[in-house]
Amino acid sequence: QIYEEPATAVVTVAKEIANLIRSKAEKNEKCVLGLATGSSPIKLYEELVRMHKEEGLSFQNVITFNLDEYLPMPKESEQSYHYFMHHHLFDHIDIDPANIHIPDGTLTSEEIEKFCKAYDQQIESAGGIDLQVLGIGRTGHIGFNEPGSLPTSTTRMVYLNDLTIQDAAGDFGGKDKVPTRAITMGVGTILKAKRIVLLAWGEKKASIIKETVEGSVSDKVPATFLQTHPNVGFFIDIKAAEEL
Ligand code: GLP
Repeated sequence: QIYEEPATAVVTVAKEIANLIRSKAEKNEKCVLGLATGSSPIKLYEELVRMHKEEGLSFQNVITFNLDEYLPMPKESEQSYHYFMHHHLFDHIDIDPANIHIPDGTLTSEEIEKFCKAYDQQIESAGGIDLQVLGIGRTGHIGFNEPGSLPTSTTRMVYLNDLTIQDAAGDFGGKDKVPTRAITMGVGTILKAKRIVLLAWGEKKASIIKETVEGSVSDKVPATFLQTHPNVGFFIDIKAAEEL
């Protein structure tokens, strides 16, 4: 779906999320959301906060799993995805803190594998992800699944691509300050979600959107694996759609 403005697109996505949360609440069920960071979902989170404050949308039945976190990364750092999520969403809604899951960027090398296995198991135990929000990196990454990531990949430690590090340099005050590793949900973890919504804005995303939507399915562009998912929606603006 192509929109003139990101602001209109996010209203549609926020409504879909709110409807899902409310329909689950009516049945006394939990709603499991997979959440993304980066600039793309900021306006979506703003709209969800507005719906909470002005329309009484409650997040008490919501369980969240974030896609990724830099490694190493202290939780309190302003560059952490932990900080990002609290700043843009969690601090402003009525979610139970026990229902928030974000990969831990403070783990030692020995602890990472166990943590990642447990993360995938926690998603399964929660009943799987009902709706996964995604952005897309210019390398074609979803989460931090860089080129070479397989469709069966699970939550794990990864090394960031040079272009990804370059794109994050602004947030860190220089390329050499960007962590070179991250923990990310796998492509396989993402593809298990029942519904996926991907957000992309601006001309910088136009060529990767074209490759993702029209290119052949390959680990060279991990986002192309979304073509194999039965219920995925791309919500993009006209600038990101320019090469389609
Ligand atoms: C980071 C995140 C991704 C995100 C991407 C795009 O690499 N790990 O999940 O999709 O950035 O970010 P932006 O939305 O700022 O373009």
